[in-house]
Amino acid sequence: MEEKFAKALRQTAELMEKELKVFFPENSSPEHRLNEAMRYAVLSGGKRLRAFLVIQCADLFDVSRDYSVRVAAALEIMHTYSLIHDDLPCMDDDDLRRGVPTVHIKFDETVAVLAGDALQALAFEILADPKTHPSASIRAELVLKLSQAAGPRGMVGGQTMDVYADAENISLATITRLQQLKTGALITFACEAGAILGHASPAQRTSIRAYSHDLGLAFQITDDILDAEGESTEMGKATQKDSEAGKATFVSLMGVEKAKIHASMLSTQAINHISSFKESAALLRDAAIFTVKRQK
Ligand code: IPE
Ligand code: IPE
Ligand code: MG
Ligand code: MG
Ligand code: MG
Repeated sequence: MEEKFAKALRQTAELMEKELKVFFPENSSPEHRLNEAMRYAVLSGGKRLRAFLVIQCADLFDVSRDYSVRVAAALEIMHTYSLIHDDLPCMDDDDLRRGVPTVHIKFDETVAVLAGDALQALAFEILADPKTHPSASIRAELVLKLSQAAGPRGMVGGQTMDVYADAENISLATITRLQQLKTGALITFACEAGAILGHASPAQRTSIRAYSHDLGLAFQITDDILDAEGESTEMGKATQKDSEAGKATFVSLMGVEKAKIHASMLSTQAINHISSFKESAALLRDAAIFTVKRQK
């Protein structure tokens, strides 16, 4: 089971590498520094779990891969923008990402801000392009959902809470909301996008959304646990930074052991939400297990 999942995730990563390269051709235009920085960040690896979720959720409904792979690429591009900005000195001030220097270290801060801005716009451009889906209403729904997931009521709202949260006085309810926004929202979009492409019924949409909510939260809790316990070389980013920076996380609130129990409970709950899809959701169940067992 684990091997099957690992192989499928690896294949998604290879597919994404090929698909994403097309959006970032090497060229010598006057704005080549921006192009180089975007290419560097987007093609520097990553697990491509969000892409995997888009494709697997779309596969539940036999959606053509021509469509789901483009939506997956748009989401990985949006995610990469969030990482570039997250690493900036005014945010988490990190030098290492995916095993290589962060964009503001490799290039400079100005280019890092601009590359993030440009990637965000590019993600929407891809979704709105008729190549992504022949139906204008499906494209419009994808654009609407991604803008909600990325914006003030999604990732950016969560990042704001993350920067200004008071770790000493934060409640379980507030930290849960913070993490659902900063990380869960894009993961929920990944799963919902598959359902949108697949014309899922309202009941199917509800199951997929419930799965993605629990998965997104479990994913960020595990990220926080790995920050406390993981290996920087394995993870390709600095560890032990959250406590140093006084970040409010599930680990700061309840300690590593309780956070692990909480993440594992969410992973099981996520799996239960998609039981109606039976065997066709096997890889999504594996993804929920991977989310809390991963080492990077
Ligand atoms: C890192 O996301 C940022 C978080 C939301 C925790 P990932 O762990 O998915 O990073 P990559 O894409 O695999 O590098
Ligand atoms: C980042 O959370 C969430 C984003 C929206 C990018 P973290 O700050 O914990 O992610 P890492 O640990 O730097 O990857
Ligand atoms: Mg951060
Ligand atoms: Mg960070
Ligand atoms: Mg982290």
